[in-house]
Amino acid sequence: MLIKTTTAIPSSEITPQDTFLNRRSFLTGAAAVAGAGIIAPQGLWAATKLSTTPGKFSVSETPTPLKKATSYNNFYEFGTDKGDPAANAHKLKPRPWTIAVEGAIQKPLTFDIDTVQNYRPLEDRVYRFRCVEAWSMVIPWVGYSFSEFVKACSPLPSAKYIQFLSLADRKQMDLPDSSGINWPYSEGLRMDEAMHPLTLLTFGSYGQTLEPQQGAPIRIIVPWKYGFKSAKSIVKIRFLDKMPRTSWNDLAPEEYGFYANVNPKHSHPRWSQASERKIDASLFPKQVATLPFNGYANDVASLYNGMNLDKFY
Ligand code: MTE
Repeated sequence: MLIKTTTAIPSSEITPQDTFLNRRSFLTGAAAVAGAGIIAPQGLWAATKLSTTPGKFSVSETPTPLKKATSYNNFYEFGTDKGDPAANAHKLKPRPWTIAVEGAIQKPLTFDIDTVQNYRPLEDRVYRFRCVEAWSMVIPWVGYSFSEFVKACSPLPSAKYIQFLSLADRKQMDLPDSSGINWPYSEGLRMDEAMHPLTLLTFGSYGQTLEPQQGAPIRIIVPWKYGFKSAKSIVKIRFLDKMPRTSWNDLAPEEYGFYANVNPKHSHPRWSQASERKIDASLFPKQVATLPFNGYANDVASLYNGMNLDKFY
């Protein structure tokens, strides 16, 4: 198995000065949370407009209507039917919220969500989003490249993988046993995948904060992979030297691999991945051909040079 690894990122060497100075206040923010507690207002979700700049990598396709993107979801913490997250996720409290970072870094860090959200300018990025269940949407996400966050955390050279852990709180979530998922929801990426500029640390969509059913207040979006890689409502990020366990791979390893790159030639054992139902404004969504790496092959195929993608699905 040929796995491309990255060396650690000594941020003081490769980060532009303005970013580096910013990073210092970012880390001060981390310390403040650890030392002084959280002062963000408590409350349920309300749409907040986000100030954004047009981002790189946007596709020119028409976005799926917001209503559809927020009423047909997978967020098993709130139930396994597609309408359950929209019906139940109002119980999720996106503020106050902290993100713990641990593992192969100099010292564990805890950030307040607002420190992370305000760290870099937020970009609008219209991405294709392909679910493993053979439907797709086009979503204008709001965020910045996850690599910026990683650099600010200064991972050690031994960090080869990243694990994302979602909130698992019975006070706010149903966490149904019937889903088969061993909570918390866990996903992961190889370090070079995580550092790819397409990988988006996401705080919003359609110019506003994420709705609870979309994984408020912070999720990851990896547009060349099936949607299950994009963990929602993240509370912990771990830098690891080994491939982490991931929820769907634990549940059915022959159906859901770690890589999960969109691949029209590699069928799911129970259905083909050659085409997808494109959910748009129309009453009867069209069936369209699925593209390798979800249409992002020019950007990311080189990450997998020499790998047998039928074996490492
Ligand atoms: N993250 C958590 N925490 N729990 C989940 O059940 N489902 C995944 C992913 N992230 C899931 C999750 C799956 S299977 C998909 S397809 C996408 O979220 C769905 O994202 P969407 O509801 O915004 O379309």
